[in-house]
Amino acid sequence: MDASVSSSSNLDIAGALASIVGANACLSAPADVEPYVTDYRKIYKGRAAAVVFPSTTGEVSRVMAWCHAHDVVVVPQGGNTSLMGGAVPDARGGNVIVLSLARMKQVLAVDVVNDTLTVQAGVTLHAARAAAEEAGRLFPLRIGSEGSCQIGGNLSTNAGGTAVLRYGNMRDLVLGVEAVLPDGRIYDGLRGLRKDNTGYDLKQLFIGSEGTLGIVTAAVLKLMPLPRARSVALVAVSDPAAAVSLLQAAKEAAGQAVTAFELISAPAMKLVREYLGGVASPLSANPAWMVLVELTSGGAQEALDAQLQQVLEDGFERGLVQDAAVAASLSDVEAFWRLREEISDAQTRTGGSIKCDVSVPLSRIAQFVAEASAKVLEVAPQARMVIYGHMGDGNVHFNPLRPADVPAREFLDTHYEAVSHAVDGLAHSYGGSISAEHGIGVAKRDDMRRYKGAVELELMQQVKRALDPKNLLNPGKVLA
Ligand code: MLT
Ligand code: ZN
Repeated sequence: MDASVSSSSNLDIAGALASIVGANACLSAPADVEPYVTDYRKIYKGRAAAVVFPSTTGEVSRVMAWCHAHDVVVVPQGGNTSLMGGAVPDARGGNVIVLSLARMKQVLAVDVVNDTLTVQAGVTLHAARAAAEEAGRLFPLRIGSEGSCQIGGNLSTNAGGTAVLRYGNMRDLVLGVEAVLPDGRIYDGLRGLRKDNTGYDLKQLFIGSEGTLGIVTAAVLKLMPLPRARSVALVAVSDPAAAVSLLQAAKEAAGQAVTAFELISAPAMKLVREYLGGVASPLSANPAWMVLVELTSGGAQEALDAQLQQVLEDGFERGLVQDAAVAASLSDVEAFWRLREEISDAQTRTGGSIKCDVSVPLSRIAQFVAEASAKVLEVAPQARMVIYGHMGDGNVHFNPLRPADVPAREFLDTHYEAVSHAVDGLAHSYGGSISAEHGIGVAKRDDMRRYKGAVELELMQQVKRALDPKNLLNPGKVLA
């Protein structure tokens, strides 16, 4: 079946939208549409009559107004890096378009006195970080897909990543948002204020709602001081409980300098090392568990290195640290981080991983990992226990992976339901979340219904109906 379909009612969607955005900013040939209707992991493949690329908020507004008047469904898309199928249409086709923000990539303003960066939604995270750095500031969101993911998508999914421990997630990093509503009206909240108690904080509606309430077109982001020193170590620990104790010790000794604290299981490390062509481990043995620790500060490098050294030595003495490799150069820092950041792609390449992105209170995470592992191994005894992620935030990516000799499809068909329900159900019973940072999209939509209370679900439905009564904006994502 073609990726693109003509509209179901002889509506010339592509023609009408081309007259708004220009013919070269509107695709409708099946081969051109294909990449925009296929998700990053190639699990979800939908259909659309056209893909449009507006370059201004005014154009987004006019596209939305036209689609609203003609009952055309709009699926907004940033860098198309969603792991939950949140940014592609479903396979039904009909009067559906993808609205890509890729052309809206202007940095609009940098204010080093107010410490803010104002960008259009299609600016990649990498470009936003680079613009901040050029001005001597840090935009602290850090995720592996920074080269392709875009600020609009980061906002729409409330992206997290590896520096949340210190700086918070996207919700904490934004001061103002501009968004286009499903009927084309523009919500202008593009303000750079740290204090503004004038009624409801409407921008928060657009953050984390995965493009179901409005299309984020621009944002005012918070800037931070650029750290001058960075000390990184890969540390072997006996188990997640030791990792939690080490984190507590690091926070007590180094306070806010503790920027990242990432847990990595032995199967996750093995997988990524193989994926990277058999790179050597910085550690001498193959420990069952590791943590990647990063301290940053505005002070001297030597002082920060000494602080990290002290944390590790104290950890050895208390039996929390079994072994540690300290990055001795910038290339070591990059190599250590590559081992962590490529775990995600290593799984995508291997296929057949059951992605559970859960969070529980930090005080219960060690017990959770032990119990969840036992439950999964009961169901799928041969699964490779790829467990990694942002332990400092109580967030683990708990991703049992197919055994090497079992095809991906077979593993997923046999185990997906039982494993994801076991892990998500346990996280819920620990007072946790079934989606810590990847969102709901379509992948977790039905699961979410099991765990959210009736009142919470009803309020979400009411907000959706209030902003998008025709259900034209990213329908079927987050809510059915
Ligand atoms: C990560 O932490 O690497 C990302 O959230 C992506 C993933 O877990 O697959
Ligand atoms: Zn993550």
